[in-house]
Amino acid sequence: MNIVIPIILILVVLFGFTAFTGAPYVPSLKSEIKKAFTKLYRISSKDFLIDLGAGDGIVQKIASEYGAKSVGIELNPIIATIAKIRLRKIKNAKIVTKNFYNYKFPRETTVVYVFGDSRDLSKIFKKIEKEAKRLSKTLKVISYGFETKDYELLKKVGAYFLYEVR
Ligand SMILES: C[S@@+](CC[C@H](N)C(=O)[O-])C[C@H]1O[C@@H](n2cnc3c(N)ncnc32)[C@H](O)[C@@H]1O
Repeated sequence: MNIVIPIILILVVLFGFTAFTGAPYVPSLKSEIKKAFTKLYRISSKDFLIDLGAGDGIVQKIASEYGAKSVGIELNPIIATIAKIRLRKIKNAKIVTKNFYNYKFPRETTVVYVFGDSRDLSKIFKKIEKEAKRLSKTLKVISYGFETKDYELLKKVGAYFLYEVR
């Protein structure tokens, strides 16, 4: 019985934090991320990836195995701390604890990873479009699990969709 309250608190911290701002914490599967970075979009040391809603940093960790630099934006400070610990030995993978709608993409950004939810997808794509315009460049966007009809679909592999946003 005594264990119930701590469990509820943990669930509130992990999932309740983003109840009104975006997708809750659910990590992408390692094998799926590897598939995305090989079969959908061949990520390399030429890439700078942004993970919008970085979770525990797993996407960045795998991106670093292919030589890509990255920054992950995570709103939940507890999950962001877990990601920082996971990525502590990886020089080119950083975590910013912030609402990603208020984050300005770095100039070197090439590709954006999104595992949001259907409710927010169009808002997230508008944010990416705004940043692409500000930087005057075309960004590739990898969306996990959710499709949008508003942007040009370049490729689909399993549950992944690859878009180009100008
Ligand atoms: C479905 S998880 C995906 C985590 C990671 N990208 C992955 O694929 O493993 C979504 C994450 O986005 C975070 N998040 C939701 N809305 C956010 C926002 N507006 N700004 C920053 N992070 C947000 C949540 O806290 C959660 O950790």
